[in-house]
Amino acid sequence: MDALDVLHKRVSASRLTGPEPEPEQLQAIYKAALRAADHALLRPWRFLVIRGQARERLGDLFADAALARKPELEPAKLEKTRSKALRAPVIVVAISSPKAHPKVPRLEQDLSTGAAVQNMLNAVYAQGLGAIWRTGDATEAPAVREGLGVKDKERIIGFLYLGHVDGPTRPAPDLAVEDYFHEW
Ligand SMILES: Cc1cc2nc3c(=O)[nH]c(=O)nc-3n(C[C@H](O)[C@H](O)[C@H](O)COP(=O)(O)O)c2cc1C
Repeated sequence: MDALDVLHKRVSASRLTGPEPEPEQLQAIYKAALRAADHALLRPWRFLVIRGQARERLGDLFADAALARKPELEPAKLEKTRSKALRAPVIVVAISSPKAHPKVPRLEQDLSTGAAVQNMLNAVYAQGLGAIWRTGDATEAPAVREGLGVKDKERIIGFLYLGHVDGPTRPAPDLAVEDYFHEW
């Protein structure tokens, strides 16, 4: 697919299914993350790939976090929360891991990690696969952070759920450039 077509037409896919993308497809997605804009080339990111049965362990962390938030949570809701980790065959956790630098504040390093996630979304779409960037309470929950080994200074920027698209996706909205871009 033409690069500009990818950038103009990419959409998220909330319904995903297996099988896991091929190893070469995953490598292409990961390589795209590593081309994120990065002030002073600090590489202020790291990524956890969660697939197969590891997703069940992530689901347990989601459930632990939900119970910590609301100990009286109904069992059905708890199981629904746990099953969220099974919504895609592969989940990439994007973690901003800031480095001390006199000219590159924390915000820029978090933004670089966000750019890496967006690059992955585009690489997914370019290969005819599907993905969605999710966050939610789990990103801040101590049970999830500790379970994934996220250090105090680090931040989870997103969970990238990816796999094969299951069902139709919405077309990309056709926003008017002039509504957002103005000559100054
Ligand atoms: C930082 C960030 C966090 C997000 N978290 C969620 C989320 O937790 N759940 C969700 O359904 N969408 C979330 N989204 C939105 C989707 O990833 C997606 O961008 C949105 O549904 C619009 O779809 P599109 O990418 O096809 O335009 C998040 C987006 C960003 C940038």
